[in-house]
Order: sequence, then C-alpha cells, then structure tokens
Amino acid sequence: KKNEAWSARFSEPVSDLVKRYTASVFFDKRLAQVDIQGSLAHAEMLCFKEIINKTDYAEIVRGMAQISTEISANSFTWQLDLEDVHLNIEKRLTEIVGDAGKRLHTGRSRNDQVATDIRLYLRGAIDDILGLLSQFRLALLDLAEQQADTIMPGFTHMQVAQPITFGHHMLAYVEMFGRDAERMVDCRKRVNRLPLGAAALAGTTFPIDRERVAQTLGFEGICANSLDAVSDRDFAIEFCAASALIMTHISRMSEELVIWMSPRIGFIDIADRFCTGSSIMPQKKNPDVPELARGKTGRVNGHLIALLTLMKGQPLAYNKDNQEDKEPLFDTVDTITDTLRIFADMAGGITVKPEAMRAAALQGYATATDLADYLVKKGLPFRDAHEAVAHAVKTCVNKECDLSDLTLEELRVFSTLIDADIFEVLTLEGSVAARDHLGGTAPNQVRAAIARLRAQI
Ligand code: ARG
Repeated sequence: KKNEAWSARFSEPVSDLVKRYTASVFFDKRLAQVDIQGSLAHAEMLCFKEIINKTDYAEIVRGMAQISTEISANSFTWQLDLEDVHLNIEKRLTEIVGDAGKRLHTGRSRNDQVATDIRLYLRGAIDDILGLLSQFRLALLDLAEQQADTIMPGFTHMQVAQPITFGHHMLAYVEMFGRDAERMVDCRKRVNRLPLGAAALAGTTFPIDRERVAQTLGFEGICANSLDAVSDRDFAIEFCAASALIMTHISRMSEELVIWMSPRIGFIDIADRFCTGSSIMPQKKNPDVPELARGKTGRVNGHLIALLTLMKGQPLAYNKDNQEDKEPLFDTVDTITDTLRIFADMAGGITVKPEAMRAAALQGYATATDLADYLVKKGLPFRDAHEAVAHAVKTCVNKECDLSDLTLEELRVFSTLIDADIFEVLTLEGSVAARDHLGGTAPNQVRAAIARLRAQI
C-alpha cells in the first residue's frame, strides 16, 4: 500500500522495514491534541483570509471535534502506513468530511506543523512542571519550618564543619529549585513562538496571517525567519538543559537522603510508602525512590546530549533527523514530571531524628570556629586565633573529649583571653544562633527566609 499523502511520484511502495524505520506515529501520537489545536487555528485563519470557504471551515471544525473525541476515547485507529500523527489525523479528517479535509493543508507543511505541535506540547509541559516545582518547594518549606531549630552537623568534605539547622539545609534546596523555576519561565518565552506559516521552509504563496494564528494559539510572537522556524530546536535543548539541572539538584538531595537514612547515620527515616524491601534480607528497608531518582538523572543528562548531537550537523532547513527530537524530549518531560510529583509527596514523608543529628554535631569539634571567632572579638588576629584553637583541638583529640569538656583553666592554656563566657559560645545552640544575618543558619533567620519564600511562591 502506498502512502497517499505523497506517493504519486513513486513507482514502487516503500519497503515494510523502511516504513517501520521512518514512522513516528507510535511515539508522536502524544501530540494529537495539540496537532488538532494547531490545525484548527490554521483553518480559522485560512477561512478569515478567504483562502478556504466558511463551509469547509465548519466541516473541518466538525471533523476535528469527532477525531478529538475518538482519540480521547481510545477508539481512533493509528496506522503505521500513515507515518506520523499529522498524516493519521489528516486522513481521518478527510474520511469524515471529504474535500474540506483535503483543503486543510493549504499553505502549510508538516515541517512547520510539527514544530508548532512540539512548542504547544512543551509549553503545556513547562506549565505543569512549574506547578510541581512550586508544590515541591512549598513542601520543603513546611519541612524547614518544622525543623527550623533542629541542629545537625554541616559538612564540608563530608567532615563535620559547623553546626547548622536542618531547616537551613532544606532552604538550600528551596533556592536551587527556585532557580530551576526561573530557568523554566525563561525557556518558556522562546518556546512560545509560532513557526506556522513557514510552510516547508520558504513561506507560502497564500496571503496568510501569521499574527492571527499566533494570537489564536496564545503564542507571544512568530518565528521571524521561515528557515529558522522549521529547523530550530534550540528551545527543546534549553528545556532539556534546564531539566538536567533540576535532576542534578534532585540527585544531590537524593544522595543526602540515602546517606542520612543509612542506619550508620540515622538522621532521617523515609515513610514506608517510598521504600521497598529485599527479597532475601528480611530486615531491609531501602530508599528506592531517591536512589532511582539519582539514577534517572543519567538518562535526562543523556537526552540533553542526544539533542545537542542531533542538531550539530544539520544544514538548514528541515531534515528528517528532527523526528528524533521527540523521544528524548518526551522522556525528559515524563521523568521530570514523575520525579517532581513523587518528591513533593515524599518531602512530607521524611521523619527527622534530632537526637542522632545532635549527637553527630557534638562530634568533630563543630564549634572550633566559634572559639576562634570569640578570640578575635577579644582582640586576637584571626590567624593567631586559628592557631590557638588548632592546639586546643589537638589536645581534645588526644584526650578524646570535646572542646566544651575542657575546664576554663585547661582552655586558658591556649589563650588567656578565654573567660567563663566561652561555655555559651561552645554550645551548638549558641553557635547557630550567632550566625544571625541574611542567609545565615540562625533559627530566626531561617524563619524569616521561610516567610520571604512563601510570599514569593
Ligand atoms: N514526523 C515528522 C517529524 O517528526 C514530521 C515532519 C516530516 N516532514 C517531512 N517533510 N518528512 O519531524
């Protein structure tokens, strides 16, 4: 069977293998509803400009309504022979309404049609992702608020560095996902432009009105150059780059969740509904969701590289290579959407164990910097204070005790500037409360930051 859409100039049918190789309908049918939306806007413009008549337009509207219902009801028959979503829908339209259906493609090509479809689809996906990012950030803010006073060790090099609060730690992620949302909003501006009207590559001989179609479809403007309109996929690459960063942030958080849930650390527990067991070890409860999210970061990074590589060698204008943009893009959307949804939910399923965090913060001389700062405030230059405290820490390491376990007399061996008020400074609470400025870990700063963020989201 020949493809009626283009095969009149062919003397033999395409081989079955080639048909299967070149077809995209089994993955691009996901564009069906936006394809219909784009076609209706195009047909409305053709009618307005009297390129087709009102009766034909009415028939197209009627046929498309039926097709849309059939697709939603899963009763539409997708045919591999018809190559892609566009030809499948157009063929069905002609079956339903006859010649009016054959007039729809006037002044249009699948090249500008598919570019329009992907943009409409991606715009919707971005809006969903923005909603999920907000939900996730709000869930993290709830967690931060509950744990604004909970002290844990802050790490550098995975070594205990200084005490921080768990709330403060969560706010670091709220910032990351906030930048991710900004990137998506910015990407959306370049997604939201209309390629339709570029036709195959050079424009069309019909007196079309592209601005009208852009307005109907809610695009912020048109793609200004017809060659660029049909061949540009920068917007898809930008989206995948922004998505790769989202997954990078998810993956960093996942790594922490996995470490924190290890019984050796025991800082948190994750609700059972996000974990799985072992088929052999009855005691196991594994943090599968964060582990899998960390793993899925690899596939999203891969999709970004796939798209960059897809585009790098393409001459202008449209090439069939572009059909390969869809699977990476769709899988990126699915992965990001599912991951954000599950993380927004999982944030509420994290139980914090303050005693374990506190015990860990009490090991590793987390308040050594506080002692050095104390000496500086009494007039000692910082480098000398650093040196004095290093000696104190060394003594404590040998005695296997904390700085706060030393007596005032023992402490004064390292500096006579030390007085009884030092013991308040050496407490974990004193340490976090002292970092009381914008962006600091003091509980009242964390609360103020939460309030500011809530007002933004
Ligand atoms: N299925 C094609 C794609 O996804 C649609 C455009 C095909 N255009 C063409 N001239 N073969 O890119």
